[in-house]
Amino acid sequence: MTAIDNRRVDAYDKVTGRTAYGADRVPEGVAHAMFAIARVGKGRIVSIDTTAAEAVPGVRLVVTRFEPGELAEGSFIMGGGYGFQSFQPLLGDRVAYRGQPIALVVADTLVAATEAADLVTAEYEPEPFAVGLDAEGAETVVQEEAIPLPFLADIKVGDADAAFESSPVRIEGTYEHAPQHQVPMELISSVVEWRGDTVVVHEGTQNAGALRGGLARQLGIDPANVEIRSPYVGGGFGQKNSLQPHLGPLAVVSRRLGRPVKLVLPRLQTFHAASFRPTTRHTVRLGADTSGRLLAAVHEVDQQTSRHDLFPCTATEITSRLYAVPAFRGRQRLVRTDVQTPGYMRAPFESPAAFAFESAIDELAYATGQDPVALRLANDTALDPVTGNPFSSRHLAECLRRGAERFGWAERNPEPGSMVAPDGATIGWGVAAGAYPCNVAPAVAHLSAAADGKVTVSVDGHEMGQGIRSAIALTVARDLGIPVADVVVVVGDTRVAPQHLTAGSWGTATALPAVQSGLVELRKHLNAAASGDVDVAACVAAAGGPVEVEVNSLPEMLERSRAGLVSIAGPEFGEFSSFSWIAHFVEVRIEAGTRRIRVPRVVSVADCGRVASPVTAASQVRGAVVWGIGAALREESEVDERFGGFLNTTLEEYPVPVNADVHSIDVGFIDEPDPLFNAAGVKGLGEVAMVGVAAAIANAVHHATGRRPRRLPIRLEHVL
Ligand code: MOS
Repeated sequence: MTAIDNRRVDAYDKVTGRTAYGADRVPEGVAHAMFAIARVGKGRIVSIDTTAAEAVPGVRLVVTRFEPGELAEGSFIMGGGYGFQSFQPLLGDRVAYRGQPIALVVADTLVAATEAADLVTAEYEPEPFAVGLDAEGAETVVQEEAIPLPFLADIKVGDADAAFESSPVRIEGTYEHAPQHQVPMELISSVVEWRGDTVVVHEGTQNAGALRGGLARQLGIDPANVEIRSPYVGGGFGQKNSLQPHLGPLAVVSRRLGRPVKLVLPRLQTFHAASFRPTTRHTVRLGADTSGRLLAAVHEVDQQTSRHDLFPCTATEITSRLYAVPAFRGRQRLVRTDVQTPGYMRAPFESPAAFAFESAIDELAYATGQDPVALRLANDTALDPVTGNPFSSRHLAECLRRGAERFGWAERNPEPGSMVAPDGATIGWGVAAGAYPCNVAPAVAHLSAAADGKVTVSVDGHEMGQGIRSAIALTVARDLGIPVADVVVVVGDTRVAPQHLTAGSWGTATALPAVQSGLVELRKHLNAAASGDVDVAACVAAAGGPVEVEVNSLPEMLERSRAGLVSIAGPEFGEFSSFSWIAHFVEVRIEAGTRRIRVPRVVSVADCGRVASPVTAASQVRGAVVWGIGAALREESEVDERFGGFLNTTLEEYPVPVNADVHSIDVGFIDEPDPLFNAAGVKGLGEVAMVGVAAAIANAVHHATGRRPRRLPIRLEHVL
């Protein structure tokens, strides 16, 4: 069989700038749009003055309110709709949150649009607002009562409270996690062009299907007249997983002007115009025997949401699965505040949940005099403690063992503050485990073989940097025994497949099984053997022309996906449950004078089933570790209750880890297929890779200082 080049298939195009992202498209006659934004925390718009804006040379249009006939209300992705929130700005006089768009300016140039948007002024009738979990006016609701869906109900196994009370060892702590915003390199942006009755949208999105369905609904047109093209996304991380509220207005003004219109949201506006990771507070109680064997766990979560939507929380889905706990009680509450609706940001619930839960496990290890790795191994389980069914695969113990070996964990002196570097820095070593649910979505795969021997695969999926193109191309090349360069992958395009949401780490597990069954069909139609290398060009010649096949997976779930609605299954699949697993080992160094916290080395070993694309998979884990460093030590969207909204809306003031913060990240994979979960044996990776990183850093900080971090991010003043 031909040797396969494992490298990222789009690496060359990406680093040479040949990759075209949504807003890179510049159609003839394109006009530029910019929003003016609300400057109060909440209230009613009394009047807007657009005179100065309209007087700017080159300004073609200033819209402060769209008519109900031309733009319908939005809809919420987790309420059976398409958008990250139900609230559609520019339809009325409500200001729901600071930074909300109040006018849309369109001009011949970006400079004119920006200047004019700045000149829009408004008078408001301000109203009291609440942004934090404890702010006056914040309203707390019990999730399982407010949204009666089975997967959002509180997880209860046995009587955890009674078991906790009667446990010989009891650990209790409350942990806080700051709100955070995604700051992908590619800003939220679109180019919209009308071609006759069809609107063509170029936008970097993880969910071209929802853009299509949602835009059609808001404009009152047939989805067949909406085309979304999103071949590459310059970072999504959940921020681009649904219809954004700018797209409807953009399509309307483009039609009104008879010109293509382009909008790139400035970084500052993305902090209010897009979803974010909501702030959460977690209370964890662990009961154990004196050897550290778990007897009970309670995990209570309060999570911020908006006033207009209930963004649901599933934080306890993984904390109830990490260990063999005979009694577990979860409780998830949502706190309505005056912000845009929060959403999914990489390992949305799981990373904060693991920070809390895995900190508590570390505390339990100290309380019982156990090594934190040994304690975790002693509480391992082959059965899902919630359902009693087996896991389709679980190699968490092996992740812990291999990670400990690679890290040199055996050298650790457990005494806090006992490890000091020659330069006086205190060294801390911490460990944490992570899990992430394995979900799967339906997919349509279209494969065609051409006379030149090239095979084109068009499938549901979005390339947001994670490497789905590489995973698909390598799968096809390995199967047919053809060069990777002869495989063309088309994703993110509604002309070729429904383009269901790519998120929740289900992209590869969704696309690959469909592609694999497509390959079986393609071999049949090429009259090729069921296995072994295929001379595609010869087979096509023998067939007398190009050969095409189309297959789909999970047909019973396709209807919703074709409508652009979320359609997923998992992580419970009848007889088994599926999760991905990981173990992280972290070294921190706390400098003697400054108390600056550095992370010189991380070892992460993941169980994501079979590794479909080794190079991009390792990159994903390294990227996730960097995110974990950000979560633990850098990222916080600051709130000032006097003003509402978020304060630090630039990359200067919202620091993320830079190269100088990132040192050795050693990545390992178990690489054992999970054939129960799907025929391709692949599980998700992108998010599990981040789960537990912040916890391991916090545990390492405890090891260095003897202080237990209860709030992220950890700052210098917490380790003085
Ligand atoms: Mo992503 S946070 O799974 O959209």
